[in-house]
Amino acid sequence: MNFELKSLDLAACAAEKCDALIVLVSEAFAPGKDALSQLIAQARSSGDLDTKPGKLLQMYRPAAATATRVLLVGVGDGSVRHVRQAVGTAVAAAKGTAVHKILISFAGAAAQKSVRAVVQAVAEATYVYTTTKSKPEGRVLANVWLCAPDAAVAQAELALGTATVAGVELAKEWANRPGNHATPTLLGTAAKALARFPKIQCEVLGPKEVAALGMGSFMSVAQGSREPLRFIVLHYNGAAKTVAPTVLVGKGITFDTGGISIKPAAEMDEMKFDMCGAASVLGVFRALADLKPAINVVGLIPACENMPDGGAVKPGDVVTSMSGQTIENLNTDAEGRLVLCDALTYAARFKPRAVIDIATLTGACVVALGGVRSGMFSADDSLAAALQAAGESSLDPCWRLPLDDEYGEGLKSNFADMANVAGRAGGAITAAKFLQRFTAKMPWAHLDIAGTAWKSGASKGATGRPVGLLLDYVLNQSPAHIAPAQEATKSVAKRKTTAPAVVALKVAATAKTPRKTPRKMATK
Ligand code: BES
Ligand code: MN
Ligand code: ZN
Repeated sequence: MNFELKSLDLAACAAEKCDALIVLVSEAFAPGKDALSQLIAQARSSGDLDTKPGKLLQMYRPAAATATRVLLVGVGDGSVRHVRQAVGTAVAAAKGTAVHKILISFAGAAAQKSVRAVVQAVAEATYVYTTTKSKPEGRVLANVWLCAPDAAVAQAELALGTATVAGVELAKEWANRPGNHATPTLLGTAAKALARFPKIQCEVLGPKEVAALGMGSFMSVAQGSREPLRFIVLHYNGAAKTVAPTVLVGKGITFDTGGISIKPAAEMDEMKFDMCGAASVLGVFRALADLKPAINVVGLIPACENMPDGGAVKPGDVVTSMSGQTIENLNTDAEGRLVLCDALTYAARFKPRAVIDIATLTGACVVALGGVRSGMFSADDSLAAALQAAGESSLDPCWRLPLDDEYGEGLKSNFADMANVAGRAGGAITAAKFLQRFTAKMPWAHLDIAGTAWKSGASKGATGRPVGLLLDYVLNQSPAHIAPAQEATKSVAKRKTTAPAVVALKVAATAKTPRKTPRKMATK
């Protein structure tokens, strides 16, 4: 799908040939003299068009436009959140087998601050998973023009938008693949494929190397599966070697049966999504490949299955983690923390400026926060504030939960340094307290994405979250980067001073990049 910014006002948009024209109409819309503006004004005054976000008025071949379909959609106060919601609704209504090219006119809404959100909303509304379908019917929409009179100022936002979409869609692709099409080995191959992009390197370790590192906790989870584990190490080097990296650690359980503490059958299929943390790390690297910011990022993915078999780890077994701390496994379904703790220990070797783990870690977090905000934990106030802010600016929000030491008391064990579970109460927090024991001295944060990484029910599928949040967070570490919200205002007010950052991102947006992953699937 190709996005282009066009400096066209509403009258010029109405004269363009396209399959659908979507006009974003805010409360503050001031009609011009052109026919389409007049039509919108009439529709509003007659009460047929409501400017509440997402309210739609659809027309077929209206005289006021050249487009085959015209969709007027309310964007409320024109806030980025409302624009995203409205575009999602309008594109979902407009898409069809004959809709290849659409125009989106910002009319009253401010283009420069919402272009990224529009790009993301269009991608979201037209995303289709096809990999394991025998007759794949992919995305039909091919060309999207984003039209505003001052479109040029939104170039950096467009670059950010298309890069985010590339990252989100790579994350969705791997997360949506069933467990037999997304094994630890295949995840390793996907990570290796990212190393075809400049500035990215990838190393994939197998069971022997992981054993040599002493990752006894990670290995104990993998031992019940026939699929060999993989430990994926990705590097994005955009800055000098002396610049401390941000380390992202993604939980990569490619299927979580619960192990010997087996899960009930209902909805167990959704545990193929237990590698969404890993998928989000791959997604961030995909976006970095496009944006090329001057930062260093390391990605670590402990990947394995959690299966029950004759060789599986048993409740009560004690294992020795890479840190030397011993762990009593009281519930083999609390496996995420067991793979993450060794990856966190490994992270220390990079002397990171911050380590963030991303994990579908607890059902308790789903109960606490539902599907709206990811759980966020950090003892470091400035790291927590930066993640919170990145969540808001990317519309991929999180919410900080506490880490009081009292929450960790339930992890006591009579037979090891700690147990892997505490009681039922505060389950998301006790899981975080477990991880914290492996983060000594590093600024660390934990994102529990169990509620936000995928949707259940009729629209079952990965969301690609929290690629947007992570991306805004790491980009904000780049000296050249200007946070998107400020970017919009600054670039209007004093374009010259912000030019370097805008240019850097602009180049990345138009660059041709290699295909994301090989596609050669056929289910049997
Ligand atoms: N992958 C699950 C967490 C999960 C469960 C995410 C349901 C989304 C929906 C994790 O490995 C797990 O099983 N956690 C247990 C921990 C418990 C045994 C302490 C849980 O949340 O039930
Ligand atoms: Mn589990
Ligand atoms: Zn799990």
